[in-house]
Amino acid sequence: MALPFAGKHCAIIGATGTIGFSIAKSFASHGAVLSLLGRTAVDARPKLEPLLTPYQPPPDARAHRPSAHRFIAVDARSQAGLKSAFAPDDGSLENSDAIVGPVDILINCAGISQNQLHRSSSYSDIKNVLDTNLTATMLACKYAQIQKRGCIINVSSLMATKPAAGAAAYAAAKAGVIVLEPKLKDRYLKNTPLRRVATADEVADAAVFLASNGYANNCILNLDGGLSAA
Ligand SMILES: NC(=O)c1ccc[n+]([C@@H]2O[C@H](COP(=O)([O-])OP(=O)(O)OC[C@H]3O[C@@H](n4cnc5c(N)ncnc54)[C@H](OP(=O)(O)O)[C@@H]3O)[C@@H](O)[C@H]2O)c1
Repeated sequence: MALPFAGKHCAIIGATGTIGFSIAKSFASHGAVLSLLGRTAVDARPKLEPLLTPYQPPPDARAHRPSAHRFIAVDARSQAGLKSAFAPDDGSLENSDAIVGPVDILINCAGISQNQLHRSSSYSDIKNVLDTNLTATMLACKYAQIQKRGCIINVSSLMATKPAAGAAAYAAAKAGVIVLEPKLKDRYLKNTPLRRVATADEVADAAVFLASNGYANNCILNLDGGLSAA
């Protein structure tokens, strides 16, 4: 039986991180061919590639899709870097392992956390958080060549709706890695019925669901352990 994402090209920005790589493994195991992007993607390749299900192109593989998983170094804060990774100026798509090309599933998972009061944050701290967590996602959505029936999945954070001290720019951008600050984590967990954060595999399952369910458009999936209901 054909795998659900056989022949589909899935590009993941932030694929070298805990959640991004879990998502990558999950899509590879469902038959997708991956472009794994991140600043350290090329360096991380020897460690990560053996953990991925190798890609088996189906007989009817679509044009301009990679024939194997690829690792592409990109700094998502760089507009020029993102643009050229997705859409080279000369329009060429052939023969380049550094160009993403047409994408069936785009997953924006790059992010950095923040643990500093807004007043004490420098301009460059704030800009770095916003550029990485928000502007990069918007630019990737703009530059990626999403194919017909393709989809985009953006990884956000509970902090987007329940912001906390020390994460103003992060919450504004969409994200917050609550595990970094113990008191904050305790506060969140105290109010979370399941008393834990999601595992990376649970986030990956949600990404697979969003990409496979054709009716799940503009869908915000709250993986919150019951926090919003408490
Ligand atoms: N962990 C949590 O509890 C949690 C909770 C809510 C939301 N999230 C969100 O989930 C996403 C992944 O989190 P994680 O826990 O897996 O974090 P992580 O392990 O620190 O991974 C972060 C990823 O972002 C990439 N990244 C950071 N800056 C980048 C840049 N300038 N350009 C390109 N890639 C960049 C990193 O790749 P390189 O280092 O190779 O550049 C890495 O792949 C983030 O968006 C985060 O905000 C996480």
